[in-house]
Amino acid sequence: MAATSYTGTAKVLHWTILVLLIAQFIFAWTMPHIGRNTPVTTLISLHFTFGIIILAVAIVRLIWRATHGEPAPADGVPLWQTVTARILHWLLYLLLFVVPILGWMDASRRGMPVVMFGLELPKLLATRAPGWGWTGDVHGLLANYAMLGLVGLHVLMALYHYFVRRDGVMQRMMPGR
Ligand code: HEM
Ligand code: HEM
Repeated sequence: MAATSYTGTAKVLHWTILVLLIAQFIFAWTMPHIGRNTPVTTLISLHFTFGIIILAVAIVRLIWRATHGEPAPADGVPLWQTVTARILHWLLYLLLFVVPILGWMDASRRGMPVVMFGLELPKLLATRAPGWGWTGDVHGLLANYAMLGLVGLHVLMALYHYFVRRDGVMQRMMPGR
């Protein structure tokens, strides 16, 4: 019989990303504005470290998803909802890669070291590489608008399934079962 729920590992990875993202947005909104010659203070370096951890967890999650698939659609959910949910899920996966990579490119371009547990990661762009100034702006816009907007829609849909349709879709990502 096809699975009716995500695997325990998929659930842990899903909720880990939520917790990491909450911390990441708190750092993003409270860290000093990053301009020319801004020193890498604690909050900024935490933003870099958490961003790279999110990217790493997203890679593990995508590999898990590619090798384990998703549960069969819940009974009675119309096809258009299954299809739009799938598109939304893939857009969220895409953002979990594009947003941190753009941030990393911008940090490299600004000559800011990205350090993970004492080890400096390679630069994705040369310091002050001409023509790449947009990476920081697009990074912030995608995180603040696209990611938060789509996650908001995703949560609304989950609540709609839980409270209005009561069809068990929310339970597919909950502990147990
Ligand atoms: C999913 C992961 C990430 C999220 C959600 C995120 C979110 C954000 C947000 C919302 C801002 C704008 C802050 C504001 O409103 O002023 C920002 C700025 C920034 N982030 Fe991230 N970030 C992530 C990962 C990273 C990573 C991995 C790096 C670098 C290694 C990074 C480097 C930066 C830099 C340099 C800025 C300043 C951009 C500029 O104004 O030019 N971020 N981030
Ligand atoms: C309170 C916040 C959240 C709730 C209540 C929630 C709820 C859910 C539920 C119920 C599912 C299963 C949907 C189904 O069976 O079709 C799901 C899947 C998913 N969620 Fe969330 N979620 C939340 C936050 C997030 C965040 C922050 C992200 C990433 C940015 C995210 C990305 C995904 C993805 C990509 C899937 C599809 C998993 C796959 O097929 O591999 N979710 N979520």
